[in-house]
Amino acid sequence: MIPQGFIVDLLARVDIVDVVGRSVALKKSGQNYLGLCPFHGEKTPSFTVSPSKQFFHCFGCGAHGSAIGFLMDHRGLSYVEAIQELAQGVGMTVPQDGRASAAEQTRSRGLTEVLQTAAEFYRRQLKEAPSAIQYCKSRGLTGAIAARYALGYAPDGWQSLKAVFENYADPRLAEAGLVITGEENKRYDRFRGRLMFPIRNRRGAVIGFGARVLDGSEPKYLNSPETPVYHKGQELYGLYEASEAIRRAARAIVCEGYMDVIQLAQAGYPETVAALGTAITPHQVGTLFRLTPHVIFSFDGDAAGRKAARRALEATLPAIGDERRASFLFLPEGEDPDSLIRAHGVGAFETELARAMSLSQWFLRSVSEGCDLAQPEGRAAAVAAARPLLEAMPPGALRMQLVRVLGEAARTPAQDLENLFGLVPWRRLPPSRERADEGPDGLGPRGGGRRQVEHLKRRLLQRLLAFPGLAREFNAQIAVLAVDGGERLDRQIAQVWRAATSGGVAHTGAVLEALAQSEYIDEFRGLATRDLHGDDAESVAREELRSGFLALEAERVQAEMRRIAGDASQSGQAIAGGELERYLELTQRLRDIKQERGLQKNVADRLESAD
Ligand code: UTP
Ligand code: MN
Repeated sequence: MIPQGFIVDLLARVDIVDVVGRSVALKKSGQNYLGLCPFHGEKTPSFTVSPSKQFFHCFGCGAHGSAIGFLMDHRGLSYVEAIQELAQGVGMTVPQDGRASAAEQTRSRGLTEVLQTAAEFYRRQLKEAPSAIQYCKSRGLTGAIAARYALGYAPDGWQSLKAVFENYADPRLAEAGLVITGEENKRYDRFRGRLMFPIRNRRGAVIGFGARVLDGSEPKYLNSPETPVYHKGQELYGLYEASEAIRRAARAIVCEGYMDVIQLAQAGYPETVAALGTAITPHQVGTLFRLTPHVIFSFDGDAAGRKAARRALEATLPAIGDERRASFLFLPEGEDPDSLIRAHGVGAFETELARAMSLSQWFLRSVSEGCDLAQPEGRAAAVAAARPLLEAMPPGALRMQLVRVLGEAARTPAQDLENLFGLVPWRRLPPSRERADEGPDGLGPRGGGRRQVEHLKRRLLQRLLAFPGLAREFNAQIAVLAVDGGERLDRQIAQVWRAATSGGVAHTGAVLEALAQSEYIDEFRGLATRDLHGDDAESVAREELRSGFLALEAERVQAEMRRIAGDASQSGQAIAGGELERYLELTQRLRDIKQERGLQKNVADRLESAD
């Protein structure tokens, strides 16, 4: 763990304009900088970098984030790697969290070093192994594609790696999964007589291998074990080679096998990756969606493929948002992308791509599998099967659509399904605690009542995210909310306030980084992004915050007045002693607020006319 304080200090020294400017040509435009978006192809610049907010946003494709996010998304670095790179740039050293992690780092570096050495050895061996070269040719691979994917050959001897490792007893060889220790401590190479597919992480370091026999023996593929540098559920085969292409094509294709990735890349789909011999995980889906809004899953036409498709659906739903798209492609019986292209040409794969199912189609097909939708029992079974999937989804337009699709198939109104599942539709608010009537003097929220309060709070949240430097000025007001709170928006405001006031820096990018672990981070990012449109001055935001918090207070005061008056009228009595005092106090406070807001309005008007 890198201490939060360090990240805050780091972001105070880093300028996002420099960081982005290293890979994107930027031109000053008003308060912001503009350039051609590196995340999607465009001819007129819609990629905006805000120096005051230390945040970038593309109005074309929606990409956005801080300096850290830019390095992660554009260069494919991990969070820690991005921080290391930024720190290097400004001459800071990332603190090590105790000795263990320093030792761990050295160990990991040691492992990727030996894996790299082995990969180079295997590569040289391929050039001298006619049988392996012949095998590659028989599968239609060109020398160029073999070089691109750094294919190699592990010779058919028990200790071939002795040729490159002086110390074959080096414990790192075993830890990296390259050698196996057998009986009587005898060591031997794990990979023998196999075509080697190096697996690289996003920075290009070799972290493991897949290895295929050249004949029909078993097992067909042998894979590196999980090691400190290789976690199968987190890596994708071919991602290092594909990441530029994924960005260019604005989509990623996920298939099932090593050979499929290479064959598709050769056939003109370099945006292809594969999960590593396991079902695709939410982590892997998340990685891809950070690079592109469209992920296409390709499944082999066999039972395993259909099972994998169901798992892929489950892994995708939590990550899917309204701006993201997933497609599901089912190849004909007995085919995988490699065999399809070899037998029927690239056109056959293109046809399958065009026929791919949308997420909603596959969702419905998948939950109603084996259910007779003509019978009430079958429809109920489909509804039951859909429930966990819908519950896993973030609320939003897409979930609403899936509920609707399911409702039509199950002949059940969408509303009933939502009630049945206890899904709270977006923006439909929990039942009002207070009556939503208008305040006595029209100061508080009108008509909509609760709805208006929510709206106001969301706006305050947005302004705090855009101008976190102002947060300190509203300590008292926010403390009241947090105490009052327990409600979602109150918690959100409190979180943003805490992030904005706990460190030295207070710009949007740093606050979002500090909130990276928050359950609300996606919402925060969305709100911050929307505020990039306006180039409001801080003074304007300050006045808006003041007025907003006053309006909230007015609402609270009025609610309490209503309660006191209501209690009294219910018991058919005049307002009782202590309560009366409080009531008068509240009336006074309301008058003050009104006056304050009036004064404030004048200030705001003057500010506006001065602009
Ligand atoms: P497949 O059996 O579909 O093989 O396994 P394939 O990819 O079409 O292989 P080729 O075309 O015969 O060379 C799909 C994936 O499952 C994993 C591998 O990752 C493989 O690419 N697998 C398969 C293993 O890990 N071990 C095996 O023995 C078989
Ligand atoms: Mn195959």
